[in-house]
Amino acid sequence: MENRLKKMADAARSALRGASDLEELEETRIEYLGRSGILRELQQGIRDVAEELRPRVGKLINRTRQELEKIVEERRRELEEQQVYERAEENRIDVTLPGRSGYIAGRHPLMATLDDMLEIFLGLGYNIAEGPEVENYYYGFEALNYPPDHPAMDEQMTFYLGENTLLRSQTSTVQIRVMEQQKPPVRVVVPGRCFRRDTVDATHSHTFHQLEGLCVDEGITMADLKGTLIAFGRGMFGEDTRVRFRPDFFPFTEPSAEFAVSCFACRGEGENCRVCKNSGWIELGGAGMVDPNVLANVGYDTERYTGFAFGVGIERFTMNRHGIPDMRLLYSGDMRMLRQF
Ligand code: DAH
Repeated sequence: MENRLKKMADAARSALRGASDLEELEETRIEYLGRSGILRELQQGIRDVAEELRPRVGKLINRTRQELEKIVEERRRELEEQQVYERAEENRIDVTLPGRSGYIAGRHPLMATLDDMLEIFLGLGYNIAEGPEVENYYYGFEALNYPPDHPAMDEQMTFYLGENTLLRSQTSTVQIRVMEQQKPPVRVVVPGRCFRRDTVDATHSHTFHQLEGLCVDEGITMADLKGTLIAFGRGMFGEDTRVRFRPDFFPFTEPSAEFAVSCFACRGEGENCRVCKNSGWIELGGAGMVDPNVLANVGYDTERYTGFAFGVGIERFTMNRHGIPDMRLLYSGDMRMLRQF
């Protein structure tokens, strides 16, 4: 019996110590030390041992069990530690790999263009003003000298939110708000979103951006308007830029003009130029001398003060500048486009 016990203990020791993973260790533990394991079997065999030897054999069995249990614990700890190392090894980070560099967001091309424009006017002594996108009939049309039946007020053109509430269709509305708040001299530029019931396509959007300018003081003439827009054109496109004015009509200016700058791509040559479509000119917006009716609407003395105003579309110009073929790209948030800026 004692011999069998010793042999069993030897076998158990080497099996437990040799267990190569936790699973094998547990299987081996059950084989020898489990409830119907080999040691238990030997224990039951004690019945066949001579009575005087039983206490000794019993003690030996107990000691063996304790010893083997200790080995199980030791081996378990070893294997657990080994597992931690193995897992760490599996998840090892190769710090020598070149990193994936993060993407740093840039200014949206629309806003970058607007910023460039604002900077020029700040340099000319203008202030920046803003006004609400939701307007009423008075600021939207009436105060800007629109006759009551003007087609721009048509539901086809303007978004109405209620009988007397609408989304502004131009930043010119803010001219009135600024002049109501302020006595001349006034020199402001007004960036902002505008809304019109246009069908969305490559060159139209129901939501778009304008930069409005307004200058009112004593003795302001059309020459000041031209000089200002020439300074603007040169600031944006370089010193050899020319500015073209052509007669136009807006209810809030008299006389009114549309203005264009010589094409920055072909320097006004207009030959084989995709940017200006061979015309040599890029249309920027409308302008004119503020109609005295508008000045009177805000309580200015029209005998003493005159002014000019202008409005520039940001979208078309941004597209021109960067060769963006479709206006919808400006609003899509498509990273393939945005990453180029
Ligand atoms: N508001 C006009 C438009 O949306 C542009 C414009 C024209 C603005 C003449 C002005 C101006 O301030 O004087 O087409």
